[in-house]
Amino acid sequence: MSEAPTTAAPLLACRNVTRRFGALVAVNDLSFEVNANEILGIGGPNGAGKTTLFDVISGFVQADEGAVLHRGEDISRMQPHEVCHHGLGRTFQLNANFGTLSVYENVLAAAQFGRHRSILASASFDPRARETAWELLELVGLQDLHDHEASNLPVVDRKRMMIASALATRPDCLLMDEPVGGLNAREIEEMLGLVRRIRDGGTAIILIEHVMRFLVSLSDRVLIMHHGERLFLGKPGEMAHDEKVAEVYLGKKAAQRIREFVGEGT
Ligand SMILES: Nc1ncnc2c1ncn2[C@@H]1O[C@H](COP(=O)(O)OP(=O)(O)OP(=O)(O)O)[C@@H](O)[C@H]1O
Ligand SMILES: [Mg+2]
Repeated sequence: MSEAPTTAAPLLACRNVTRRFGALVAVNDLSFEVNANEILGIGGPNGAGKTTLFDVISGFVQADEGAVLHRGEDISRMQPHEVCHHGLGRTFQLNANFGTLSVYENVLAAAQFGRHRSILASASFDPRARETAWELLELVGLQDLHDHEASNLPVVDRKRMMIASALATRPDCLLMDEPVGGLNAREIEEMLGLVRRIRDGGTAIILIEHVMRFLVSLSDRVLIMHHGERLFLGKPGEMAHDEKVAEVYLGKKAAQRIREFVGEGT
């Protein structure tokens, strides 16, 4: 979205968000904020509620309690396409694309339909949408595969395509759910560079990831969830010193490795 924030409000704020599935409280009274241009990393054990939190923010499920504010406006009751048009993009933990369309057509569809507040039936694609799609294929390094069918792509390229499609909606905040799950070391390194380029282009990012080096390298702050609650929120270096995080999620050895990685051997 091109409009500047109209207030001094944080770009995105979750205020006391709770989401239940029957007796299970998947997200429990969770509050945090994300500032413009920030990368917030989210970690935590399997089942901690990370993806459910993304589902709430992006309108796929509704919060039972609390509110999600984007640029100061309550988006909690919006449908997913309305949240998208409001300027929040999302990639998914599992595959989400049009399998029988080409790579270019996938990104073009997002550029055409994901940017505008009203979806008008049109006989042809907007030239600006075509331009955006090509620019983004270049950004993610998929221009040579533009005519390949999406379902035939390797995992890493499907993830790249999903990112290009999300960016084609021109978000000011991008939610990424496990962007390097299943990738090898070289692919993870490339994805790291891509995420940095996206942020440098002016998009804030909320990143869920279990690969801690990736999360720690990129994140300005880290939120660790456990049983739907906020276990820790702070800088990556502080997280590696937090006893609760070591006990519940990282383990002592991994916490030590992260301290060494961020340059604090103690
Ligand atoms: N639609 C649903 N119906 C019922 N329970 C659900 C639903 N979606 C998620 N849950 C439950 O909510 C809890 C949180 O799940 P969620 O997928 O948000 O965890 P996660 O932190 O993303 O885990 P992972 O790291 O494994 O991806 C889990 O116990 C899960 O089984
Ligand atoms: Mg998940």
